[in-house]
Amino acid sequence: MANRIKQIVSHLSGTEMLAELWQDVPLAPPDSIFQLTAAYKADTFKDKVNLGVGAYRDDNNKPWILPVVKKATSILLNDETLDHEYLPITGLADFTNAAAKLILGADSPAIMEGRTVSVQTISGTGANHLGALFLSKFYKWNGPPRVYLSNPTWANHHAIFRNVGIEPVEYAYYDPKTIGLDFIGFIAALQDAPDRSVFLVHACAHNPTGVDPTQEQWKAIAKVIAAKKHYTFFDCAYQGFASGDLDKDAWAVRYFVEQGLPLLVCQSFAKNAGLYGERVGALHVVSTNEETASRVKSQLSVLQRSEISNPPSHGARLVSLILNDDELFEEWKRDIETMAGRIIEMRRELHRLLTEELKTPGNWDHIVNQIGMFSFTGISGSQSKELVEKGHIYLTGNGRISMAGLNSHNIAYFAEKLDAVVRGSLSSSG
Ligand SMILES: Cc1ncc(COP(=O)(O)O)c(C=O)c1O
Repeated sequence: MANRIKQIVSHLSGTEMLAELWQDVPLAPPDSIFQLTAAYKADTFKDKVNLGVGAYRDDNNKPWILPVVKKATSILLNDETLDHEYLPITGLADFTNAAAKLILGADSPAIMEGRTVSVQTISGTGANHLGALFLSKFYKWNGPPRVYLSNPTWANHHAIFRNVGIEPVEYAYYDPKTIGLDFIGFIAALQDAPDRSVFLVHACAHNPTGVDPTQEQWKAIAKVIAAKKHYTFFDCAYQGFASGDLDKDAWAVRYFVEQGLPLLVCQSFAKNAGLYGERVGALHVVSTNEETASRVKSQLSVLQRSEISNPPSHGARLVSLILNDDELFEEWKRDIETMAGRIIEMRRELHRLLTEELKTPGNWDHIVNQIGMFSFTGISGSQSKELVEKGHIYLTGNGRISMAGLNSHNIAYFAEKLDAVVRGSLSSSG
């Protein structure tokens, strides 16, 4: 017996076994946004600008801890009753209940009638994943499992749905000719898709384009969705952050609920509370009645249990404190206005510099018409590359810029380089 074991062990050394096991794993490309950030960090040019990052920065290009979050943190730190026990599988109820009211409206019939299921998730990404996983198991597909994603969309949407066996299909959304919404194309895609298709829509501040439907357009979209019995998968990562007003940014979701459309909402507190690393989010599934809601909740609990067991407590406690205390809530709204206001101001200033000072060729109205953190500038892939390589301005290859990366110190430099690249006269800086 001992000899036999010796024989087996000597047949392959540990290293050989490992080499054999993983040698066919293909090398994945690095995440383009994180790669861009790494390149920015490595650049020693003093006027370099990072417009790739999807996180708020203050006027000095620093991350901003919201004053209300500082206050809530200090309350938590001094609360002797708190411990580090596990939260329930579906999360902190005080948080999920308040989060549902925030997105659906405090007087939402879907909440009052007990037909909304809310589960705490690992920020917005986790909500998208849990929502996709739930659909993959329980949605009554009309054909192979497919999700319709806007073209373009947050790149992670594709990976999240593929991971659970749902094939992404793109629908027309952005029109490069107008640098705006391809409304006709969007409506046509809704009409052409098989009945009961799943459409993912961004509740506000579409990433990456910054192009949102108007309220009238949302109404028309809802009408076709109702006629075709489609399912709406709302992704809401920027509530309040887009317009500065939490209710305004929730308008589309609330309108769809009012129309009795079947839907779910993925909610993130990364941007609007500046809690990126704390991973605070929720998934809200609006059902037809209380009984269905309890079935849905039971299955979401089973899925959540197998994935993360139960969600983390710190960030949820912070947001719960803010949402459930009138004074903190009012303070949060002011903090949101500060962030959204600065971004809106950067949009206006960039537009002014391009149109009034530099007289840059082309129409730049989209800079002020788009909403939220991101703006699709409309420049080409090669112009974007030139800005990175010659101007030390870091942006994604599709011409998307994060408005949060602009501030009073670097906006003139950026406008000047953008103007030069558009005119084909950009020379190397530094
Ligand atoms: C459209 C969209 N959905 C979801 C997310 C998820 O973000 P998080 O997981 O940090 O909440 C993001 C973040 O950039 C986003 O832009």
